Amino acid sequence: MKIVVTGGAGFIGSHVNELLLNQGHKVIVVDNLSKGHKDSLDQRASFHQVSLEDQKQLEEILAGHDAVIHMASFIEVGESVKKPVEFAQNNIVGTIKLLEAMKNAGVKKIVFSSSACVYGVPKKLPITEDDPLGEQENPYGITKITMEAFCKLYHNLFNFDVTILRYFNPYGPGELHEPETHAIPNFVKAILSKQPVPLFWKGEQVRDFIYIDDLAAAHILALPLQGLHIYNVGTETGVKVADVVKKIFELVGYEIPIDDKGKRKGDVPSLVASSEKIKKELGWSAKVGLDEGLKKTIAFFQSSFTPSR
Ligand SMILES: NC(=O)c1ccc[n+]([C@@H]2O[C@H](COP(=O)([O-])OP(=O)(O)OC[C@H]3O[C@@H](n4cnc5c(N)ncnc54)[C@H](O)[C@@H]3O)[C@@H](O)[C@H]2O)c1
Repeated sequence: MKIVVTGGAGFIGSHVNELLLNQGHKVIVVDNLSKGHKDSLDQRASFHQVSLEDQKQLEEILAGHDAVIHMASFIEVGESVKKPVEFAQNNIVGTIKLLEAMKNAGVKKIVFSSSACVYGVPKKLPITEDDPLGEQENPYGITKITMEAFCKLYHNLFNFDVTILRYFNPYGPGELHEPETHAIPNFVKAILSKQPVPLFWKGEQVRDFIYIDDLAAAHILALPLQGLHIYNVGTETGVKVADVVKKIFELVGYEIPIDDKGKRKGDVPSLVASSEKIKKELGWSAKVGLDEGLKKTIAFFQSSFTPSR
């Protein structure tokens, strides 16, 4: 298939591109490099440095393609609290422009990167796709719910094939967000540079950490789907954040003091996916366990990360 990947120069996009290309798909990346890295792009993909804002150019790029995997988004929760207008403009308006460009170009299949954050504070664990969407404590979460809603609307109004993937906590090699607010890359970078390990809530929160290659595989399985589908993508295993730190200590063979960061507003206590639906309907399953995933993540930062202090 000929697939346009928005946000393809980002962390998750670069892994999805590689898998698509390895499986013989043609990949066209659309990314404005507001956050992503040109170095992360696979040489086999073609690249357009274009923003979602530019509907006309999107239309021209999209013509003749089969599907869009839509990952372009601002993602940093804290930043979204400071810049709600920019987040709404970039994520929501950008998504509407993309959908309009797709409609005009006759491309009617989209796989959309959503997040477990849409559930808010879950009423039960594990979370299933029919659980209600929850109250949001930051603009980022609202943009994700709204982007989902627009994708669904284009299914209802214009018969788009829409698959919404709700990621739990992705991690793995190549995670180079700036600023980085995600736990695993921050733990690994601190431990490798022998700096105190920043830990919120004393690490008591429970998360479902999904290795990047397993997450990427879900996008490929979604491509043949028709109609409207929503899937959680998680391992169905809740792990205490403090236990992740312990595992990294074990893997590197030494310990570093903890930097107790106290509480952080907006963090929910526990998020664990039920992935029954995606297993049953798409034959997807998480293959990489936390030990193996952390080993690969540590190896990536050992080879590429220069401690700053
Ligand atoms: N990383 C996570 O933990 C996580 C969890 C749940 C959902 N998601 C979703 O997955 C997607 C990818 O996340 P990521 O971690 O790879 O983020 P990322 O920041 O690494 O990648 C996002 C990419 O989108 C690009 N982009 C942003 N706005 C754009 C615009 N207007 N036009 C063109 N390109 C634009 C950025 O330059 C960047 O390369 C996002 O939609 C995010 O909301 C991520």
